[in-house]
This record gives sequence, structure tokens and C-alpha cells, in this order.
Amino acid sequence: MNRAGTTERSSAPHAEADAVVPAAPEVVNVPDPAPIPAIAVRALRKSFGTTEVLHEVDLTVQPGTVVALLGPSGCGKTTLLRSIAGLERPAAGEVTLAGRTVSGPSDFVPPERRQVGMVFQDWALFPHLSVAQNVAYGLPRAERKGRRVDDVLDMVGLAGLGDRLPSTLSGGQQQRVALARALAPRPKVLLLDEPFSNLDTSLRTRVRSEVHQLLAELGITTVFVTHDQEEAFVLGDEVAVMRAGRIVQQARPAELYARPVAAWVATFVGDANLVDGAVTGDGAATVLGRVPLDGAAETDRVQVLLRPEELRLDPLRPQPGVSQVRATVELREYYGHDTVYLVRPDGGDVLRVRAGSAPRFARGDRVAVRYVGPPAVAFAVDTG
Ligand SMILES: Nc1ncnc2c1ncn2[C@@H]1O[C@H](COP(=O)(O)OP(=O)(O)OP(=O)(O)O)[C@@H](O)[C@H]1O
Ligand SMILES: [Mg+2]
Repeated sequence: MNRAGTTERSSAPHAEADAVVPAAPEVVNVPDPAPIPAIAVRALRKSFGTTEVLHEVDLTVQPGTVVALLGPSGCGKTTLLRSIAGLERPAAGEVTLAGRTVSGPSDFVPPERRQVGMVFQDWALFPHLSVAQNVAYGLPRAERKGRRVDDVLDMVGLAGLGDRLPSTLSGGQQQRVALARALAPRPKVLLLDEPFSNLDTSLRTRVRSEVHQLLAELGITTVFVTHDQEEAFVLGDEVAVMRAGRIVQQARPAELYARPVAAWVATFVGDANLVDGAVTGDGAATVLGRVPLDGAAETDRVQVLLRPEELRLDPLRPQPGVSQVRATVELREYYGHDTVYLVRPDGGDVLRVRAGSAPRFARGDRVAVRYVGPPAVAFAVDTG
């Protein structure tokens, strides 16, 4: 093999046969054609009365991936999910599922013909129907008496509970009934609307792990709504951040955390310090001294993103000539796995600093604080 990955013809074992053996096809790096998205939402608009709640929303979900739709209450997450399912009729824009237009200027495929499973925010189980009947409800009549109901209950860990009424189950179990009902007809796409919001904290983490495991095994294309950043990061292959009827950024969790496109996104996905900076060359002068910037800043004044885990505290060194940014510890929050200090640099605003588990400093301590992270992201400040 040569460096390009092709076979040298001279190395062929029977050189005399060369004339009749076709040359090995040349290996060229042709990029794979872009896969057809499992879900594509383009410039979708939706109003209730005179209020527009979705403004030109774009969302792309690749087959077999999980996208978390993350945003504050009332920003339009449920409305978007319902529009994908066909439960809302958008005013404009397009929804395609695996390349097929299900909602557009001249098309509207009804929900039951979209092969989409949905778990609602409140689960919406029928209280007077048994668990098995609830699950069977999602199936065509012919399949309701067959094995599918038992198979799906088994899949979500509810084997043997088919005869019970939903009210006799725990919250986590009811949540799984709703999931089983959505999965029963083998949907191509699963939409989950805040599936864990009715569960208390300890149960929530466990049920979330179980659902994560199940989605990973099934490899089913999923959009799930949450307003919990941790949940979005844990479950989402990608996270789409939504605000006031718009998707502000869609990216892999690590990319979103490291390179948010706006200050609002930075503070919404995790803990963030935003400090004022005056741009000088490829850095910015801040309360912590010069911080290198990631890319060129658009304005002279910027807000610099310093994540709490990228700040370090040190004891003050008494010797002269050592340059340190002095600060005072105002509060200590001990979380077990780590400790967050609220420190105020002399003459500056309070910063959050995330440090190792063992608390080293106490309230009132004088410390030195410095930035140890990679070139930082800066947001333009409009001074006009
Ligand atoms: N059927 C409706 N009629 C009128 N207004 C509605 C209707 N459904 C939703 N809205 C409004 O649209 C906006 C978006 O609502 P939506 O339920 O999509 O938000 P959400 O992001 O899911 O919020 P939450 O996190 O609280 O569930 C809200 O202002 C809501 O009051
Ligand atoms: Mg909602």
C-alpha cells in the first residue's frame, strides 16, 4: 500500500497478469452524502390568537440520535414538539420526517400517520384503564390482543403489572407505562415532553438512567424536552437551546458548554462568570489581569466567559514582586464532590470558583485568584 491507500501495481504477485487484471480502483476521499435527517424543522411559525410563540424555528435531528430541547418555561418547547407530532398546525414553515414532508404549505399529515410516539408532560394515562389497556391503546386494534403489549411492558421493566390500574403504581412506574404506550406501535421517532418532571429528585436520576439505557439500546430517534441543563447534557447527543420561540444554538453538549454563542446561553448551560474585558491584541484586560481570547473579538469592550472550574485560588504570597490578584472569600458552598467559593477580587464583582472536594479556604480568608483555562470565549458588548 502506498500512502494514499492504493495498491502499487508493481507489487502484484503475478506481474504478467497485469494486462488483464483491472487496476485497483483508486481510493479517493469522497465525503459520505449527508444523511437524510430523521426530523427536519424549517422556519416553523406558530401563533395562538395574535401571539406568535414559534418564530422561524429550525431543528435537525439525525437518525438514531437523541436531541434534548432545553429552554425556560413558556419558551415554546411543548408547542414545537406538538407541531412535530402533528397535534398543532403551524402557520408557516415545514416539518419533514425521514425526508417526507408531513407539514408544509400544501401538506398536513395527521398525527396517526406520522409514526411518531409521544410521551406527554403529564403522561396522560387513562386512570380507568389497566396498564395493559393503556399500552394497547397505542396499537392498531388487530394487535391489541397479541404479544406486543407484554413485550413492551417487559422492555420497560413492568412485566407482570399489566392488570394493575395506573393509580396503584409509583410515579416512576407510571412514567414507564407512558413510555411503553408510546413505544408499542414501533414509532420511527419518539418525542418526550419533560418525561421526568413529575418524579422526585432521587427517583428522577434513576429513572433517567434507565430511560437513557433503553434509548441507547433501541437506537430510536428521540427529541426530549427539559428545562434542566444537567438532564439535557446527560441524555442528549445534541442539545438545542430554545429561548422565546427561537432555537438559539444546537450543538453537542461539550461544544455548547465550551463555545456558547451568546452570554445568555453561557449562563443557561452551567455556572458562568461574565467579566468585563477591554480587548488588547488577542487577549482582554480584566479584573483578573490579561485573559487570552478564543478568536477575534468583534468589539473593543467584551464580556469574557470564565467558567468557575477554570479559576484557581491560592494562598497569598507575602514576598514582594510576585504579582497576584487579591480577593476575599465571601462564601463557601460545600457540595461533597466539590466546593464552590464566592470570592470578590479587590475592586471587582463576585466570582464563582469551583475547587476540589476538600474545603481549603474559609469565609473571610484573603486569597489570590487566577484564570487557568483555555483561551476564553468573549461576547461583544454594544457600546453604541
Ligand atoms: N393552546 C394554547 N393557547 C394559547 N396559548 C398557548 C397554548 N399553548 C401554549 N400557549 C402559549 O404558548 C407559549 C409556549 O407554550 P409552551 O407550552 O410551548 O411552552 P413550554 O416551553 O413547553 O413551557 P413549560 O416548560 O412550562 O412546559 C406560552 O406562552 C403559552 O402560554
Ligand atoms: Mg411544556
